[in-house]
Amino acid sequence: MAFSPQFLDELRARVDLAGLVGKRVRLQKRGREHTGLCPFHNEKTPSFTVNEDKGFYHCFGCGEHGSAIDFVMKLDNLSFPEAVERLAGDAGLEVPVDSPEQRQRAERAKTHYGILEAASDYFEKQLRMPAGKPALDYLKERGITEASIARFHIGFAPNLRDGLKTALARQNISDAEMVETGLLIQPDDGGRQPYDRFRGRVMFPISDRRGRVIAFGGRILGEGEPKYLNSPETPLFHKRRNLYGLAEAAEAARAESAIIVVEGYTDVIALNQAGLGNAVAPLGTALTEDQVRLLWRYAPEPYLCFDGDAAGARAAGRAAENMLPILTPGHGLRFASLPAGQDPDSLVRAGGADAMNGVLAEALPLSEMIWRLERRGRRLDSPEGRAGLEQRFRELTGRIEDELVRRHYFSSLKDRIWQEYRQERDQGGGRNKGQGGKGAAVPKRMAARSGAATPVDTSRLQEEILMTTVITHPALFDAVDETLGTMRFQSPALDGLRQEVLKALSQSVELDFQGLVDHLNTVTGFRDTLGGLLSRRVYDHARFARPDQPLTDAERGWEQLYRLYKRTQLLEDISAAKERLKAAPTREAFEKLTALLASASTVDEDAGSDDVLVRSGGDGAA
Ligand code: UTP
Ligand code: MN
Repeated sequence: MAFSPQFLDELRARVDLAGLVGKRVRLQKRGREHTGLCPFHNEKTPSFTVNEDKGFYHCFGCGEHGSAIDFVMKLDNLSFPEAVERLAGDAGLEVPVDSPEQRQRAERAKTHYGILEAASDYFEKQLRMPAGKPALDYLKERGITEASIARFHIGFAPNLRDGLKTALARQNISDAEMVETGLLIQPDDGGRQPYDRFRGRVMFPISDRRGRVIAFGGRILGEGEPKYLNSPETPLFHKRRNLYGLAEAAEAARAESAIIVVEGYTDVIALNQAGLGNAVAPLGTALTEDQVRLLWRYAPEPYLCFDGDAAGARAAGRAAENMLPILTPGHGLRFASLPAGQDPDSLVRAGGADAMNGVLAEALPLSEMIWRLERRGRRLDSPEGRAGLEQRFRELTGRIEDELVRRHYFSSLKDRIWQEYRQERDQGGGRNKGQGGKGAAVPKRMAARSGAATPVDTSRLQEEILMTTVITHPALFDAVDETLGTMRFQSPALDGLRQEVLKALSQSVELDFQGLVDHLNTVTGFRDTLGGLLSRRVYDHARFARPDQPLTDAERGWEQLYRLYKRTQLLEDISAAKERLKAAPTREAFEKLTALLASASTVDEDAGSDDVLVRSGGDGAA
C-alpha cells in the first residue's frame, strides 16, 4: 500500500521516538539527545544515540541509523506497511484507506463541481444585469476585453446577502452544500442563517488544470480591503496546489515548452490578451513546491516574475533557495525581474508583448540566481573568503535531494569561485593572502565527539562567542573585519546582529563597548539576541570574551576560536559526507569524503598546542 508523504510526515511527527526506543533500550538523557547501549550490536559502553529533534537514532559503533519506522521494522522484523500501521495505531492516527467514506467523498466531489459551475454561471449572468454595470465598466476601463471576459468566465457578485444563495436554492442546492463549497459563510453563532461570501465583487473563477471550477477570487471594485477575497480551503480547493489560469494556459505552454508565473489574476489576463497565453498565477500565497512540480509538467524551466525592487529581489531569493530541494534532472526555474514598479499587466499595456518578451529573455537560471545571491558582499581574494563561499554553496546544494543535480550544482558553483578569483587576480584587483599563523589545538575529545553529540550546538556556541568578543572589544574590528564579513552564522538573528555590528563599526571608528551596545539597543530586533550574548552563559565558556579582559587576550582568543570553529565545521562536513556515502555509496561520495579527510589532516598538522579556550564544560571563571 502507498502512504501519502503527508501522512508519513504526520506519523513521524507524532511518534515519541525516545519513548519508543526507551521500551527496548535503557536511555539516558544527555542534553538534547538520549544515549544507551546499541540494540543492533553488542557493546559495553553506549554509542547509540536518539535525537528527538531530528527524529532519528544513530549508532556510532555499528552505524545503524534510521527513523521510528526503521526501528520497528528492524527490531520486530516487520514490513514497511506493517511498521507504519503499528506506529500509527500506537500514536492514535488513522491510516488512510480506500474506505466507503472515501468513495462517498468522491461522489460528493462530483456534485461539488456542479455547484461551483452553477455559481460561476450565475456570476457571469449578473455581470450583464443592470446591477453589474459598474463591474462591466470597471473591467472595460482596465482594458479587459469581451474576449477575455468570455475566456476567463469573469463575472459579478451583486451586493446582496442572499443573491447567489437564492439562485442556487432554486436548483435544489442546499445551504450546507453551499457552505461546504465556500460560497456561503456560516456565522459562528450557528443561530443565524448562512449568507453569500462574495458581495459586490468582480468574480474570477479559479479552475483546476482540467478546467473544472474549484473556487473563486473576488476583486473589490476600486479601492478597499481586502482587495481580493478568495474562497476558503474546501475539499476541492487547495490554494497551494493549484494555479490560476492553468487550464487556459496549458495548450500554449505545452506548445512552447514555456510557462510564465506572474503574481496576479489580472496579470494572467493581460498577458493572455497581449498574445502570451502561457501565463499562470499562484493563489494568494508564495509559490509552493507542489505548484512548481505542477509547472514542470508543462515546461522544463518555468519563468518566475518578480518585482524589480528590493522586496521583489528578496522574494526571488527566497523562492530560489526554497526550490533547491525538489530540483530533478532536466527541471529548473528562470527568474525574470520586472522593471521596478511595473507588473506584467502595466508592462504589456505600455509596451505590448515585446516588452514582456524582453524581460523574459533576460531571465536568470536558478543556478545563476544562487551564485549572485551568495557572491554579493563577499571577497574572494583570501582563502577564507573562497572557503566561506564554497562552504555556503555546499550547504545550499546539500539541500538538493537529487544526487545528480546536487553534484552538478556544487561542482559548477565551486569551479566558478576559481574562475572568478583567477579573473580578479589577473586583472590585478585581488590580493592573495596566505593562511598564516599557527592553529589552535583541537582537543581530541572534541574531534571525536563532533560527529556525535550536538555539533550544531558546538558551532553555534562558537559563533556566539566570536560575536560576543567583537562586541565587548570593538577595537578588535580592524583585525577581524574581513573574516567576520565573510562569515555567515546559522541563526538568522545572530547573523543579523553580525551584519549590524559590521555596519556600525565600519561607520564609526570611535565606538567603544558601551557605545556599541547602546547603538545595537536602539536598532529594533536585536535586544534579545544581544542579551543572550552578554551573559554568563557565554562568558563562562570563554573568559576572553568578557568586557573586562585585555584586548590582547580577546584577540588571541578570537583567532584561536575561529580556527577551532572552521575545524568544527569541517568535522561536521565529514560526518555529513559519511552519512551520504552510507546512503549512496557512489565514487563521487567517496572522493568527496577522501578530500575532506585530507584537508582535515592538513589542519591537524599545522595545529599548535595553545590551549586558551573553550572546553565545552566551561572553565567556571566568573
Ligand atoms: P496584486 O495586488 O498585485 O493583484 O496581488 P493584481 O492582480 O495586480 O491586482 P489589480 O487588480 O491589478 O490591482 C497579487 C495577487 O495576490 C492575491 C491575488 O491572488 C492577487 O491576484 N491577493 C492580493 C489576495 O489574495 N488578496 C488580496 O487582498 C490581494
Ligand atoms: Mn495589477
